[in-house]
Amino acid sequence: MTELRVPGDKSISHRALLLAALAGGESRIRGVLTGEDPQATASILRELGVRVPRLVADGELRINGVGVRGMRAPGGILDCANSGTTARLMLGVLAGQEFEATLTGDESLRRRPMRRVTDPLSRMGARFEPLAAPGRLPLRTTGGALRPLDDRLPVASAQVKSALLLAGVTGGVPVRLIEPGFSRDHTERMLAAAGCALTTSPEGGANRVRLTAAPPALDPLDIVVPGDFSSAAFALALALLGGAGEGVVLRGIGLNPTRTGLLPALERMNARIEIEQGSAPKGGESAGDLIVHPSDLTGTEVRPEEIPGLIDEVPVLAVLAARARGTTRITGAEELRVKESDRLGALAANLSKLGVEVEELPDGLVIEGSDRPLSGPVEARGDHRIAMAFGVLGALAGNAITVDAPAAVDVSYPGFWEMLERASRLAARPSVRDSGEEDVELARPVHGRKRGPVIVIDGPAGSGKSTTAREVARRLGFRHLDSGALYRALTCALLESGLPPNSWPALTEADLNAYPVRMVAAGSDFRVMLGARALTTELRSPEVDAHVSAVARLAAVRGWLFGRQRRAGREGSLVGDGRDLGTVVFPDAEVKIFLVADVAERARRRLLERGREPDLDGAVTAEAARLRARDRIDATRGIAPLKKAADAFEVDGTRLSFEEQVDAILGVVRGRIGDRSAREFRLPGNEVK
Ligand code: DC
Repeated sequence: MTELRVPGDKSISHRALLLAALAGGESRIRGVLTGEDPQATASILRELGVRVPRLVADGELRINGVGVRGMRAPGGILDCANSGTTARLMLGVLAGQEFEATLTGDESLRRRPMRRVTDPLSRMGARFEPLAAPGRLPLRTTGGALRPLDDRLPVASAQVKSALLLAGVTGGVPVRLIEPGFSRDHTERMLAAAGCALTTSPEGGANRVRLTAAPPALDPLDIVVPGDFSSAAFALALALLGGAGEGVVLRGIGLNPTRTGLLPALERMNARIEIEQGSAPKGGESAGDLIVHPSDLTGTEVRPEEIPGLIDEVPVLAVLAARARGTTRITGAEELRVKESDRLGALAANLSKLGVEVEELPDGLVIEGSDRPLSGPVEARGDHRIAMAFGVLGALAGNAITVDAPAAVDVSYPGFWEMLERASRLAARPSVRDSGEEDVELARPVHGRKRGPVIVIDGPAGSGKSTTAREVARRLGFRHLDSGALYRALTCALLESGLPPNSWPALTEADLNAYPVRMVAAGSDFRVMLGARALTTELRSPEVDAHVSAVARLAAVRGWLFGRQRRAGREGSLVGDGRDLGTVVFPDAEVKIFLVADVAERARRRLLERGREPDLDGAVTAEAARLRARDRIDATRGIAPLKKAADAFEVDGTRLSFEEQVDAILGVVRGRIGDRSAREFRLPGNEVK
């Protein structure tokens, strides 16, 4: 398993910087996030007269605090960039400072609501003057002597709660709050550790927080910022979906229970995650390791009371839901409409564009999972978590997704794309290594069971893939998947339905469900069924021959058949042949063969296959011309073009007899997976004769 570390917790990094600034004496912070959001907090603190050194992830940051009311009036405008946490927490800090300041942010932040913070702060005596739109940044703040606050918050929001507590600290007044749920409590833990008299108690489903007194200068901090659970969630999702080989171990992740609400939801989804709680690091937070295995996920219902504990994880949860079996329903998440983007809108629009069935609710999403390939461009709307969630989806085998704003991730996860590439390279790496003597452990846990090897034989028309693959499968005791037969079976079904061929291109994947094409494992083969009827000679009728390549060019058809082929390969012990098995359907296959032959030889075999004597009157020449044209179409078609996978072995059968061709391929297979593995994964009953 690969070990991964993720950058420091964003929420804790902001708070550590702020509280160190308000302390009397030197604080020490290790593992701070160096992303753009905490950078915004650090540079504003510098404007306010606090000497904050350059943020470094590896070393230790030392900050000399100026005390709770020791900040000085800034020379210029304070720019929070994209960071909502910076803006809201800073509004609280500034409420108790006796000077004027102007806070602004980037375009996305200037659209986000600030009233939920400025309204209660105004009741405490601070003044805010919007310089553009009401209730939005830029805002001119005037702080000073404050009154105590006794308030009930309309939504459970850590940013609002923290802003009010920080105003209590800088204003030197008690603050009593009731929030209607349990939002993250990093501020409470850190303030208590810094010497404030602060208590919290549950009251029914609500959270009562009381700050009764704050010292004139907070105690300096000595903390290690744990890895950000919200960042870890992306690597975790990749691993659950099988995109990181055998899984990952995520080290030193913050496990504050107000942040890990994703874990119980994932448990219901059948995720296999082990948690190893570490010893408590300094600073009142808990941390530990997460061991994540590829899992067969199912849909779940995420209820409103769970949302505060997984608010930042909804984007990644939506992506997991798109790959889970069944329906996932998320409600009570209307708060997501006012995050870095309208996250519900962004998720629904992008998922649906990629081909996921999704319904957007006013306060949530209903997502239908599937394993069909997803492709297309994603508009992240400048939102780091949207970009990363779709980054994970795009890193999975079979998907082709581009994200328009990759740099957005720098807000919270510098190095995200590098992590993704590193982790998914592991998945792409064949799980077998070449080894002289011993068979290598090639089985990896897939859904808790060992799966046998998948061997694919791709190549141009007429190379004899299908008959060769069938014989290779028979000799290994594996099952043969003739993917062309599936395209032919669907063509048969379409022809029989009477639907005119010129209307086929308009069919969607949902429409195709009306055609009962399926595969049934039968001994060493799959039988292709149309309803209750097994298709045999119909598959090669001249009519099917005439229409099948047009059918195979339709994106809906390829998407629909993708899932059927993946399912056939789920247990492994399979030899499949086709044109895109190694590149699209089974990019994770243990052995990939690309079978080629000279075009005249392929033409000769085609004619023999059809019972015609390759004669001297030009039949071979004519067939070769047809094959050449077909090769050109196959290699240049926009969708799943015929091409050799980078890790495929090319076998040239031009001068080989059928037996020699089969032996050559078996030689490659045995070289890759060893004899013992080949025997071990023989299907029961498939004795080799
Ligand atoms: O191999 P075949 O002639 O039975 O294939 C039938 C058609 O399906 C042919 O037009 C190629 C197409 N096909 C494909 O596009 N991808 C596959 N994996 C298999 C077949």
